[in-house]
Amino acid sequence: RLEVKKYPRLTEVGAFRNGTMVGHDFSSNDGIRYGGYYTREQIREVVDYAWDRGITVIPEIDLPGHMLGALAAYPELGCTGGPYDVWTIWGVSDDVLCVGKEKTMKFLEDVLDEVCGLFPSEYIHIGGDECPKTRWEKCPVCQAKADELGLKSDEKGTREQKLQNYVTARLQNYLAAKGRKIIGWDEILEGELAPGATVMSWRGSKGGIEAAKHGFDAIMTPYTHMYFDYQQADPATEPLGPGYVKVPLTLEKVYSFDPYDQLDADAQKHILGVQANLWTEYIPSNEHLEYMLLPRMCALSEIQWCNRDKKNYTRFDASLGHTFEILDAMGVNYSLDCRGLIGLDRKPARNAAELADYMEKNKVNW
Ligand code: ACM
Ligand code: ZN
Repeated sequence: RLEVKKYPRLTEVGAFRNGTMVGHDFSSNDGIRYGGYYTREQIREVVDYAWDRGITVIPEIDLPGHMLGALAAYPELGCTGGPYDVWTIWGVSDDVLCVGKEKTMKFLEDVLDEVCGLFPSEYIHIGGDECPKTRWEKCPVCQAKADELGLKSDEKGTREQKLQNYVTARLQNYLAAKGRKIIGWDEILEGELAPGATVMSWRGSKGGIEAAKHGFDAIMTPYTHMYFDYQQADPATEPLGPGYVKVPLTLEKVYSFDPYDQLDADAQKHILGVQANLWTEYIPSNEHLEYMLLPRMCALSEIQWCNRDKKNYTRFDASLGHTFEILDAMGVNYSLDCRGLIGLDRKPARNAAELADYMEKNKVNW
């Protein structure tokens, strides 16, 4: 949630929800107003902090789905006109932006103008995932736009998927004129994708493989290995996480990911890298966030930076003792699930003496 000067209601209205579902019960609401957003000043600080450390922050503005906050603020941007509420539950809403309206496209261009002004990254992520087409199928404005564009369902995709292709391509061109490239989730491959887009493969590696084989750059972030919001040990003994996770995403499973699987040398060149996603619906504190990230992020680093023929879980595992000492010295939290010590309640050791004491008491032997 980002402050946008031209559309103040995005944060005044769209950045807050009236309560949150409790646990996995979609009919519940804790009654506590929740929200907040990054001001432009705060974003500049984040971007500068990262830049000084050699890191480029790439923003994602997820469109045309996942837009209920924006629709609550500006209902005229939807197909039905609303009224809409900021959602108090997780998931995918049928209500998405009405892309038949020029007003919506102008809104997106205006927002992206401000985004480009704040983020110097060559890439801008424009989302594209989880956009149901039910509203577009019934909306006269969207249907008139599809007619105007001459869109027809065929073996490549439905007419409404192609309507989304039109939005993607139009914003891709708009951003190209500013010297920026787009990234989109693998749904942007459905229908017809314009050359030059980079695909982020999240529904497994399939989208990334298909993209790379067709000459598109791709970033691998399959939920099977790279969704760090999934628990890393038995969900029954871990802190609460997404209800649909039944099999833990262990450190070893993360480490086993091969982003080049099924790709020949030419296609491999199109894999820009690997990313982990850490969605925070069930992560209320920094300590918990660090717990989900570490040490799985160390495994991710080896996937990216270790020669494939040098990857070896036994060697990696043996090096973790030193890794934990470094993390302790940094004062960040991490999971010891890979050492059989389950749970966030474990008090993190914060310095060498505490760590030695902790190891002694818990009979931990790195
Ligand atoms: C995603 O997890 N919907 C990209
Ligand atoms: Zn519409």
